[in-house]
Amino acid sequence: MTEAEAHMDFDLELEPEDLDEEAPEAKLGDPCLVVDDLHIVYRVIGARGKKAAGGAHITEVNEKQSFVRRLISSGRQHVGAVSEVHAVRGISFTVRHGESVGIVGVNGSGKSTLLRAIAGLMPAKSGSVHVSGEPSLLGVNAALMPQLSGERNIMIGGLALGLTPKQVEERFDDVVEFAGIGDFVYMPMRTYSSGMGARLRFAISSSAQPDILMIDEALATGDAAFKAKSKARIEQVRENAGTVFLVSHSISTIEAMCNRVLWIHQGQLVMDGPTHVVTEEYKEFVRAQRPAGKGPGKGPGKG
Ligand SMILES: Nc1ncnc2c1ncn2[C@@H]1O[C@H](COP(=O)(O)OP(=O)(O)OP(=O)(O)O)[C@@H](O)[C@H]1O
Ligand SMILES: [Mg+2]
Repeated sequence: MTEAEAHMDFDLELEPEDLDEEAPEAKLGDPCLVVDDLHIVYRVIGARGKKAAGGAHITEVNEKQSFVRRLISSGRQHVGAVSEVHAVRGISFTVRHGESVGIVGVNGSGKSTLLRAIAGLMPAKSGSVHVSGEPSLLGVNAALMPQLSGERNIMIGGLALGLTPKQVEERFDDVVEFAGIGDFVYMPMRTYSSGMGARLRFAISSSAQPDILMIDEALATGDAAFKAKSKARIEQVRENAGTVFLVSHSISTIEAMCNRVLWIHQGQLVMDGPTHVVTEEYKEFVRAQRPAGKGPGKGPGKG
């Protein structure tokens, strides 16, 4: 697959409620997050090929394995080459208290991986992530267990955020209401639609006034009312000097909620700047990549 054909579920349409909306200015504080030349590598067993869909680089690493190692591993369930996917390749940036940072990029460019690394869920191959203050971050996908009910997951997620069981109980109704999942809260999370799951994760992760709130796609799945509630909650976090990261393929959502945007491509930072400067460039890039736009898909220029 060429880059030009890379799959993009990208929403260029502005939704009526987002038209002319911009994230309000918030007073910026001291730096609260420093990401320094970060590299993240996944090890994949049984993979083939040299390039991942999003352009992340895959290298086979078992060529030099000893004969004994190969004998042992051939007895394991997974038989095949061990490959590495270099998903984040030398990203650096600094974020201040009160910033609302959008992350854009085509599928497989490394957005979710970067968020997981900031949340401390992915070890760095090299480089570092420094977070000041309470490390009470929760990637929206962390901690929750699909086989358990929404109710149990609200408790687990709340405890992971540092709430006491009593505090979780007090906020329970709010979380369910916010997520709009009704009686599904008593069903296992694996029975939820992806939108229901995403909304519940967002409701849980934003219920505890976190220092850094991370949202990966969750908002794009909600209806207008859910978006409005989410926006209010994001602003509340920022007013309390918290920081917000939002990954979304909906550029209108990013434009409505973020002051700054990072554009990631093939695991590298292409642009980092004020929302509209970056989203305009990104939209231009996506248009040029679309099959209708024809022409060879050239990579984004360094900005
Ligand atoms: N658990 C994993 N094991 C191996 N490779 C992975 C894993 N998760 C992601 N990758 C690879 O890492 C690269 C970056 O993936 P990531 O999920 O961070 O992209 P993304 O920008 O969030 O994409 P999307 O827009 O589709 O959510 C991709 O090449 C992907 O195939
Ligand atoms: Mg992702």
